[in-house]
Amino acid sequence: MVKDHLVMSLSDAKNQDSRNLNNWIAWIVVIIAVLWILHTTTQYFVMGVDRTIFMRHKIQTGFVPWDGWRLVLSIHVAAAIVALATGAITFMLGIFKDHWSLHRLAGRTYVITVVVSGTAGLPLAFTATGGAPATAGFLVLNCVWLILVASAFVLARKRDVLRHRVWAVRSYAVTFANMTLHLVTALLTGPLDSRTAAYTVAVWLCWPLNLCIAEALLRGIANLKSAMKKNVT
Ligand code: HEM
Repeated sequence: MVKDHLVMSLSDAKNQDSRNLNNWIAWIVVIIAVLWILHTTTQYFVMGVDRTIFMRHKIQTGFVPWDGWRLVLSIHVAAAIVALATGAITFMLGIFKDHWSLHRLAGRTYVITVVVSGTAGLPLAFTATGGAPATAGFLVLNCVWLILVASAFVLARKRDVLRHRVWAVRSYAVTFANMTLHLVTALLTGPLDSRTAAYTVAVWLCWPLNLCIAEALLRGIANLKSAMKKNVT
């Protein structure tokens, strides 16, 4: 009896540890999302697209915006910002296993905004900085993003909660692609001596890097949980 009680308390404590770790990761992800949302909103909707480094570099390299390009870019960026925000909200509500109807509403908004942003991203891809290799990279990124979000959505509809969570985390990791794209571009511009080359390489690297981090976190948490279970039994 006493032993059973001790085992139960130990198990509760270990579960609490694992929940604390999940919460820490969730908070770090949310803080990064908020910072990136603020950065992008300021750049594109306060300063204006023409004052961004991206646009100045694009014009310097001979790009002439086609009719409606700025509007399509604004739709793409605005929808992506809402996807980052609603993804963070969905993630937090899911982690705290609370407010399921809000989680569902935020999740649906996330899916819709990913589809809108991805659709607007398609025509933009054909005039991407870096030419054909960058265009191909953006098209692959678009497919990966849409496939991941569709998988998470279908699993949610099937009430397959465990797999839904895993695919939702993967899809949200790819939603940070633009942030990683900027970081990798900044890191590679010096060594490659060309912003265009760095940007093109970054288009291909941004989402695999994010998916690797997501996989490492998912596996880390899963391993920790199974190690805790073994310790308790
Ligand atoms: C994950 C799938 C995504 C795809 C396929 C995609 C596609 C594109 C394309 C093709 C461009 C034009 C690039 C060029 O002309 O060189 C672009 C620009 C841009 N996208 Fe996305 N995008 C994605 C996600 C996001 C997300 C999640 C954000 C979040 C804020 C975002 C924000 C931007 C911004 C701000 C620009 C302007 C260039 C810059 O400052 O990076 N994109 N995107």
